[in-house]
Amino acid sequence: MQHTVAVIVGSPREKSLSRNVAKALMSIASDNLILQEVPIAHLPLYNGDLDGDNAPQAWVDFREEISLADAILFVTPEYNRSIPAGLKNALDVASRPYGENVWSGKPAAVVSVSPGGVGGFGANHHLRQILVCVDVYPLQQPEMYIGNAAKLFGEGGSINSTETRHLLAHFMDAFERHISAIAG
Ligand SMILES: Cc1cc2nc3c(=O)[nH]c(=O)nc-3n(C[C@H](O)[C@H](O)[C@H](O)COP(=O)(O)O)c2cc1C
Repeated sequence: MQHTVAVIVGSPREKSLSRNVAKALMSIASDNLILQEVPIAHLPLYNGDLDGDNAPQAWVDFREEISLADAILFVTPEYNRSIPAGLKNALDVASRPYGENVWSGKPAAVVSVSPGGVGGFGANHHLRQILVCVDVYPLQQPEMYIGNAAKLFGEGGSINSTETRHLLAHFMDAFERHISAIAG
């Protein structure tokens, strides 16, 4: 059975290492997963005063895109041992108005990416903490912390390590099974 997956990249950078990893995951996934990045960098900062019937169109569109997705794939860098503010904002935007949280009940997977050796462990687990609150079900195993990420990519952003490609393929297989188990 086919499932749609909204890919959320935590970095706003065009040449982001996280985006390279997201693209690699999208290219490795089986045909049963239809993956598409849903941009977040343009979303206005959440402010309850602006929400309701006249909410910014960017929020309305983003909420719609998330609500239509069967599952979510988060690929994020670590900023100061947590997630980037833009990603937190996207999580907040689609969790409101109160009672209309469109993340609720969706299966997800979390990948953290860093040029450093720790692989964004802090970001990965801060994100998991937030996912509890917005009622998202992240894949538990395998965990995916991609360290030394700047060394993984060749010209054009493709992955130059066969070992890493196998690791990512194994991860996407587990994610597909997780989606089927939760989304049916
Ligand atoms: C504000 C800021 C804070 C950062 N804090 C961390 C950190 O806590 N841990 C880490 O591994 N890298 C940290 N970095 C470095 C990022 O991992 C690095 O810039 C990475 O390339 C950003 O991800 P991207 O390539 O997907 O944009 C930080 C970068 C910025 C801009």
